[in-house]
Amino acid sequence: MSRTDCRGLDITAANAAAVAGFDRTIGAYLGLRADTGDHLKVTLEADPGFVMAHVLRGYFMLLFASRRLLGRALASLDAARKAAGEGGCNRREEMHIAALESWSSGDQNRALALWDRILTEWPRDVLALKLSEYWNFYLGDCRGMREVQARVAPCWDESVPDYGKVLGMSAFALEECGAYEEAERRGRRAVEIDGADLWGTHAVAHVMEMTGRPEEGIGWIDERGEDFAGCNAVVNHLWWHRALFHFELGRFDAVLDLYDREVLPADVFEYLDICNTVSILWRLEEEGVDVGDRWERVADAAAERAEDLQLVFADAHYAMAFAAAGRGGALDALIAAAEAFAEDAEQTQSGVMAAQGLALCRAAAAAKAEDWQGAVDLLYPRRRGIRAVGGSHAQRDLFQRSLIHAAERAGRERLACSLLAERCEEKPNSPIALRRYARVLAALGDGAAATAAERAAASLVQ
Ligand SMILES: [Fe+2]
Repeated sequence: MSRTDCRGLDITAANAAAVAGFDRTIGAYLGLRADTGDHLKVTLEADPGFVMAHVLRGYFMLLFASRRLLGRALASLDAARKAAGEGGCNRREEMHIAALESWSSGDQNRALALWDRILTEWPRDVLALKLSEYWNFYLGDCRGMREVQARVAPCWDESVPDYGKVLGMSAFALEECGAYEEAERRGRRAVEIDGADLWGTHAVAHVMEMTGRPEEGIGWIDERGEDFAGCNAVVNHLWWHRALFHFELGRFDAVLDLYDREVLPADVFEYLDICNTVSILWRLEEEGVDVGDRWERVADAAAERAEDLQLVFADAHYAMAFAAAGRGGALDALIAAAEAFAEDAEQTQSGVMAAQGLALCRAAAAAKAEDWQGAVDLLYPRRRGIRAVGGSHAQRDLFQRSLIHAAERAGRERLACSLLAERCEEKPNSPIALRRYARVLAALGDGAAATAAERAAASLVQ
């Protein structure tokens, strides 16, 4: 029968306890809580024929970006369809079923279009809002992220449950679009509403990363770290941000210490954990830091997922892990699978793989083979298009850094110099970029400019 959820949306469920369980599950999901699945289990026990609970389970399975869980997502889709056939469902729920079907078949563009239609009619459908954020993010469409948030904003205020979480999403979208001041204001407000708002905290950390405030960023995360007990793997990503702030300041020992204690997951690696760990180790090696045998665990984790091909962004990181660990066979197999995947015209991510992803995987192989010119040839023509693989600016910076590093190692100092000039203009408060810039300027014989860049870097590090 039709009931009402905590935000006033009609929802088909057998009893009030199931709806309350669904609301709790959504709240836990938005809060990035590790117990989200437990709430969903209780919800389905209260109503085994709950259409939206089955849809939600399907979405959750897909959010792991693991091919192994695709079967469970499809089973949830079947269960949702069956429940809708037996007990009926409303138009919004039908569209969610269609979105789950689209996503599980690899057509994320259609899923996004369906969530867009849902949000036009039901702007308080926070599930559609969060998933829309997720896929706009992984398709590199920060403008899309911002637009969706702006369109629903008039229908949200403090009286609506999880308003703070929506502010946090909005803050992140604004940050990715470069609207740092308003992003920080909204992110801080989200954290005022709920001190344990991991996503809002994360959005503000991004602002501090992009505006060159590493000391402040470390303080921001340190003040809140203990609030995130019970959160899911995204908390490891917040620690990644803290490690990145130390990296920016050239404190590589601190980065390695944080890596070992916090960024590296204790047991199971999610795809995001692999991205975090690869991203740190690769950066450190480019700065000449010996990372010991740390690649081994990361490459083992990547080997578990190499056939997934669910997110090009993640696949590129898996390739880097294999390249760095010297696992040529695994890397070749990944590239061969990615080549076949890139041919599949039905899949949204296939086009991204063809246009950008394969080049990133091949560039990783070239870099580790010390074919620096080869890496430059792969990365330079794509330096603007890389946005399409998704991830944040801070995450994709890994690829931009690789290009600069490869240019320098290839003896292309003039190219490295121009890329660093561009980088220092965009992010003037970056000590690590300024130091590299100083080194390249010195190699080109411009001692005065090198000294100025070195002094600028020193003035930023206490
Ligand atoms: Fe982030």
